Amino acid sequence: MKVSIIGGGGRVGSNAAFALQCAGLVSEIQIMDANVELAEGEALDLLHGASVLGDQRIYAGDYQRAKDTDLYVITAGLRRKPDESRLDLINRNVSLFKSILEQIQSNGYSKHAQFFIVSNPVDILTQLAAETLDVPNHQVYGLGTMLDTARFRSLIAEEIGLPTSQVKALILGEHGDTMVPVWSSAVAAGLPLKGYPGVSTNFENSIFERTKGSGAEVIRRKGGAGWAVGATIAETIHSVLLDKKQILPVSSVQKGCYGIRDISLSVPTVVGKNGVEDHIEVELWPKEKQGLIRSAGALKETFRKIQ
Ligand code: 2OP
Repeated sequence: MKVSIIGGGGRVGSNAAFALQCAGLVSEIQIMDANVELAEGEALDLLHGASVLGDQRIYAGDYQRAKDTDLYVITAGLRRKPDESRLDLINRNVSLFKSILEQIQSNGYSKHAQFFIVSNPVDILTQLAAETLDVPNHQVYGLGTMLDTARFRSLIAEEIGLPTSQVKALILGEHGDTMVPVWSSAVAAGLPLKGYPGVSTNFENSIFERTKGSGAEVIRRKGGAGWAVGATIAETIHSVLLDKKQILPVSSVQKGCYGIRDISLSVPTVVGKNGVEDHIEVELWPKEKQGLIRSAGALKETFRKIQ
C-alpha cells in the first residue's frame, strides 16, 4: 500500500509517518508538504532509520508523483491557538484544504484511492472532501474522535490505576466541543466502569473535561499533538490495509445512523479494505444519543457557513 501524507513536513504528518514506519506494514510512504525543504528533511530523517525499522520506500514527492497513491492522508493545516476552538480554525483551513483537493484533482488520482482527513475541523473537511472528490463516500473518512477516544481510555486508565489496554471507552460525535462520552459502554478489565472503585460522577466529569481539553492542553504545553495522533492515524490505516473490519470512531458521511444524515461525524464504523464498510447503530443512553444529534446539528450549521 502506498500512503501519501499531505502535510508530512509537519508534526502530525511526520509522526504519522514514523508510526507507520515502526509498524512496517505499508510498503511506501510519500511525504508531501508546501514546505518542500521540510518534506525532504523529514523523508531523509525517516530514510536514515529504514535500515533499522524496515524496508518501506520513503521519499518526498509532489502531487504528480502521488498519482498512484492508494491512501492519501491529509494533515496539512494551520494549528489552533490554545484558546481557539477547532471550528474557529475553519475559515483559515477551508481555503487551504480546497487548494489541496484541487491539486489532487488536477494531477489525477486513482478512482480506487482512499482519502483520510486529519486536518481540522476534521468533520467539516471530511464532508467537504466527500462532496468534492469523484470517489464513493466509503473511500473518504476522517480521524474523527479516534484521538479523543485514545486520550479518554488512557486518562481513565491512569486515574484508576489499570493498564490502558484494559480500559475500553468511546467518544463519538464531533472532534470538537460537542463530542460525546459514551459512559454506557465503558468497561474496566471487562467490568462495567460505572461500578468500578473510585469511579463517580465527579470522576467522570473531570476525565471527560480533561479529554475534551486535551488538544488545547497539548498545544499549550508543547505546541501541538504528534505522537498519539500519529498512532491513531496508523491504527486506522492498518484496519484498512489488513482488512481488519475493526469498529472505530472515524468520521464519515452519515446515512441515517442514529437518525443522522448528510454530515460527517464519528459513529461506530466498520473500517476495512473498502474504507468505511458499515455504520453500527448500537443502543446508547438517551442523553448520549441526544448529544450525537446536537453534534450533527452544530456541524451542519457550521458546514452551511462555508458553502
Ligand atoms: C487534537 O485534538 C490535532 O485536533 C487534534 O490535538
